[in-house]
Amino acid sequence: MKTFKGILLAGGNGTRLYPLTSVMSKQLLPVYDKPMIYYPLSVLMLAGIRDILVITRPEDESMYSALLQDGAQWGVNISYATQPNPGGVAEGLLLGETFLDGSDCVYILGDNVFYGAGLSGFLTAALANNVGATCFTYSVSDPERYGVVELDEACNIKKIVEKPVTPPSNYAVTGLYVFDKTAPEKAKKLIKSHRGELEIVDVLNLYLRDEKLTHQKFNRGVAWLDTGTPESLLEAALFVETIEKRQGYKIACLEEIALKNSWVERDFLKQRAEQNASSSLGQYLLKILEK
Ligand code: G1P
Repeated sequence: MKTFKGILLAGGNGTRLYPLTSVMSKQLLPVYDKPMIYYPLSVLMLAGIRDILVITRPEDESMYSALLQDGAQWGVNISYATQPNPGGVAEGLLLGETFLDGSDCVYILGDNVFYGAGLSGFLTAALANNVGATCFTYSVSDPERYGVVELDEACNIKKIVEKPVTPPSNYAVTGLYVFDKTAPEKAKKLIKSHRGELEIVDVLNLYLRDEKLTHQKFNRGVAWLDTGTPESLLEAALFVETIEKRQGYKIACLEEIALKNSWVERDFLKQRAEQNASSSLGQYLLKILEK
């Protein structure tokens, strides 16, 4: 099986969340009990990915590296790159080209929160079956805020449009993509859109033109949460709180995923849990380690 690397984009100015984002990078804001970036990072780890590039604004890099370090605490390798000007999601593929070094990748946006039973199996299957690129769609009530797929009668993608005024369907393209090694080359062919960005949907459309784009629908059992506005950020936090309190399981617990993947030793985790015993994370880890 191919090895995939991961790219996690945590750039952008988060203007819709101002003043929350006036001195703090959006993807470091809390979603209930952990920083937002933990959620997409957990998705990469659930997909079995261990080599991860985190792309940030230059002024935020030190905070991300202080938070995530080199990833060894979760059994992964995290490296960093910066995006000096928000030039669009597809720019991450150009900034990540050296890191990818010809590998296939899973690309995820740092503000996308996914939750659902079976996510891990769903993702590993999508990686195993990927030919070209795979995008993941989700039915939403406000598709005009996202990249949107236009489908034919057989449910094949005809086109993907970014933030259409009149959406051709309710299926938004989520910020999670699987790409083969040709993605950086494709990104180099793009020209900036009317909003001055290199659009990820244009990369997907290049794969579509070559008949190498697959789309997978997330079903109703998966939650894809928005964190882009104060209301949606609060709702995402309340969602996580509700599930965690009710089930007694944490969502996006990186230590737990690392343990399940056999990427860290139990003793190492126990030590970390004891060091953080006053936090809900420490308590949670001590509880799962007892089992
Ligand atoms: C980006 C992508 C868009 C996608 C969305 C998912 O939008 O351009 O196609 O649907 O992420 O979060 P942006 O965050 O740039 O508005």
